[in-house]
Amino acid sequence: MIDKNTLEKFRDIPTPFYYYDLDVLEATLDIVKKETKQSGFKVHYAVKANHNSRILKIISSYGLGADCVSWNEIAAAITAGFPPSEIVFAGVGKTDRDISAALNADIFCFNCESIPEMEVIDHLASIQNKTAKIALRINPYIEAHTHKYITTGIEESKFGINTWELDEVIKKLSSLKNIKLIGMHFHIGSQITRMSVFKSLCSRINELQEWFTSRSIDLEIINVGGGLGIDYENPEKAPLIREYFSLLNEFIHLLPGQKLHIEPGRAITGQCGSLISKVLFIKNGSNTLFAIIDAGMTDLIRPALYQAHHKIENLSSNGSIYRYDVVGPVCESSDTFAKYIELPETRRGDIIAIRSAGAYGEAMASRYNLRDLAPAIFSDEI
Ligand code: LLP
Repeated sequence: MIDKNTLEKFRDIPTPFYYYDLDVLEATLDIVKKETKQSGFKVHYAVKANHNSRILKIISSYGLGADCVSWNEIAAAITAGFPPSEIVFAGVGKTDRDISAALNADIFCFNCESIPEMEVIDHLASIQNKTAKIALRINPYIEAHTHKYITTGIEESKFGINTWELDEVIKKLSSLKNIKLIGMHFHIGSQITRMSVFKSLCSRINELQEWFTSRSIDLEIINVGGGLGIDYENPEKAPLIREYFSLLNEFIHLLPGQKLHIEPGRAITGQCGSLISKVLFIKNGSNTLFAIIDAGMTDLIRPALYQAHHKIENLSSNGSIYRYDVVGPVCESSDTFAKYIELPETRRGDIIAIRSAGAYGEAMASRYNLRDLAPAIFSDEI
């Protein structure tokens, strides 16, 4: 909660900055922990959502594993306390250097996306005299009903292995002596809010299970990836973690001894973060009033890149309601956080919170226009 007291403290901190409410993060992790215990699922936090070292340390302290997409993420996860044996390495374009470093660190599993990648992992594992465990990322051809840039499991996606290639993959595996197939991996997209999408994924997984069983191939794990959305309209609302776990529990038919893995990112960190900014100028446009703030698309690129909606609050005004276009200072017209939204009368110096920014906010920041990176401030520091 950003209350009056917190607002007073914000006034003394140079803006923009990311504010992380640790009570919110921990409340979310408490639910994850409880659901994990009950279901027996293994949760790997998708580090790409937020790799802030303090956030990683808190998440690892709750016993989650990590889902990483680069050696640097793996190294950050290990430093934050995630055991290498609970780290998975995903990505459609893993470099040789990153694969070798991950093999050297003895991570749990590589989520593998193509035959050429399998060959390279096998070769690099043989150099280290190791057997790499892999899960095949399969493209299940399921429309995630989310923004097209974060849809990853349809026919034209670059991700995953096509089902028509599976016979060849299995044939290839028998000749690769330094990799061991342990599971199937999926990830159909992000910010998925229709639960029916996950049901479709479960059905598809059940069909694929039969494909493997009929070929006498045992799989230890089924990894359904991430994707659970959050409510950007209502930042105080916790993600539907309980409902999601119970859906997976009900609709995926695990075989005896199989374990279900999930890789949520946004659902864990999204609602704990806000980007805090100050209003620089109010400017008349032809048809609108611009509230120009000191945070820009370099701090939070989601609205510019995915036309994403984040709730925006003026924390320091309770005047009459007007409509504003809330924009940043960067030299791009896409540097717009929201158009024609209602805010209490807004003036220079007012403090603005852009909510639900704990996932893919700080992690996607850039220094375009040679702007400084917004620092992170935690609720227990102020
Ligand atoms: N697992 C895999 C293999 C992934 O590719 C991703 C996200 C996740 C898990 C975590 O997904 P989540 O639970 O956070 O939806 N920058 C975009 C999101 C890109 C997601 C990429 N992959 C955004 O700001 O919406």
